[in-house]
Amino acid sequence: MPLHPFHGIEPRGLMAVLRSPLFEGRFGRMFRNLPPFLPSNEALDALARQMVEPEPQPGQDDTTGDNPDIPAGFTYFGQFVDHDLTFDPTSQLQRDNDPEALVDFRTPRFDLDSVYGRGPDDQPFLYGDDGVHLLIGKNKVGEEDLPRNGKGRALLGDARNDENLIVSGLALGLLKYHNRVVDTPPLATLPAEKRFDEGRRIVRWHYQWAVVHDFLSRLVGNEVIENILRPVSFKVPAGPEAKAINTLQVVLKFFHFSKRAFMPVEFSVGAYRFGHSMVRGEYELNDQVVDIPIFAKPPEEDLRGFRERPPGHVIQWARFFKFVESRLDIQPSRKIDTKLAFGLSILPEAVAKEIHALAERDLKRGKALGLPSGQAIARAMGIPEDLILRGARLRPLPDKLLEAFGEDTPLFFYVLKEAEVLSQGRKLGPVGGRIVAEVLIGLLSADPASYLAIQPTWRPKAGEFGAPRDGEFTVADLLRFARVTIG
Ligand code: HEM
Repeated sequence: MPLHPFHGIEPRGLMAVLRSPLFEGRFGRMFRNLPPFLPSNEALDALARQMVEPEPQPGQDDTTGDNPDIPAGFTYFGQFVDHDLTFDPTSQLQRDNDPEALVDFRTPRFDLDSVYGRGPDDQPFLYGDDGVHLLIGKNKVGEEDLPRNGKGRALLGDARNDENLIVSGLALGLLKYHNRVVDTPPLATLPAEKRFDEGRRIVRWHYQWAVVHDFLSRLVGNEVIENILRPVSFKVPAGPEAKAINTLQVVLKFFHFSKRAFMPVEFSVGAYRFGHSMVRGEYELNDQVVDIPIFAKPPEEDLRGFRERPPGHVIQWARFFKFVESRLDIQPSRKIDTKLAFGLSILPEAVAKEIHALAERDLKRGKALGLPSGQAIARAMGIPEDLILRGARLRPLPDKLLEAFGEDTPLFFYVLKEAEVLSQGRKLGPVGGRIVAEVLIGLLSADPASYLAIQPTWRPKAGEFGAPRDGEFTVADLLRFARVTIG
């Protein structure tokens, strides 16, 4: 399979997971014993049509679908995290030799290879002459942008981070954060190789901290995180009395792997696609660029990517994340519910070929991968019947659709519906939240270079690399330290 730079293209090895229950490769399953849920394509088409918000009309703002608890920037931070996890850093030769990723694959990691690629020795075109700084580009009017080749294609570890102008802005923020970290004492005076390696470690650990404590905590709530990332203590002899040592232990109930961690399809094809419902129809980037659709039919201006940042499209990040120093209003994300923005039903060809409606793609991919129904997974998790959504709780789905599906619904739809019914669309529900939290924390602990694997009690330190207080570091702190435009 040729490598495609787009978020919408099926990753290497995804379909191979279907064939064998003993399969061990890049993708795998959390709930191997449950039967696939295989509704008719007509039923899925009809469900997908129900999942689209009306086309936005000029001057009409539908704020009822907004989520006051999660600022809009986290939608794209979530997309960035997806790219980081699903990025395939193996070389083209390895991909050709092992198209199904059964042998040659790296386990999914939050290691920012989507930014660093395979490093300055293997991919020097991403780096400055010193092999320490990442290249930053400029558009034709001199505003900062991702570095690009003559055709406007971004030079990035993972080209999918150029899919829209918001995620590409975040990728630029990460490049700039790295460059500032390596310019900060004591790193600034280290020999080049050490300076790069240490800079990359610091960037990764701070980013990983923000993934768990800023992003995931908003999505699932701290109780779920604390149930997985548990404080434990043990005693060591220290002089006349034993001393208690406090550390953290990761306890996973449903995501099990032995030698190598893998990407579960229940996460990548089901639960983690919740982010598609958080996308707003329109955004404000700055004072001048307002109410611009995420995707529109040409020639209307939109936020599509894979091109140089248009002049004037600089992002004021205080419109996307909470910055205490700014008075700008933050745009909220949309609720995690069963409605997706209209723009996601008319995806451009560069983002998705043939099927241009994202909900339809999500539902059909779930069927193609033989995912169990949401209800079957809820039962396998031991969720009590009064929290499992069926019948009346799935309304206002039309009766015809309820009949077509029976008591069960696709996992993707289920995760959105339970968030809508049980959490008012403000965060994920019991099934979606548990899958997302176990996989994110499980993969982090399985990554041999993560802070959780190397030094589980590590915390960001006040005043260092953007952390305002001990144990506090958010996406906004990262962007502030990176010196992007805040507004
Ligand atoms: C404007 C924003 C976005 C667009 C246009 C978009 C588009 C797409 C498309 C076309 C696919 C492939 C569907 C298929 O054929 O299976 C996809 C897959 C996926 N999306 Fe998104 N997406 C967006 C944002 C997000 C966000 C915010 C998240 C999560 C927070 C997310 C998570 C995923 C995941 C997990 C997959 C499957 C794995 C992968 O291929 O990376 N996406 N998206």
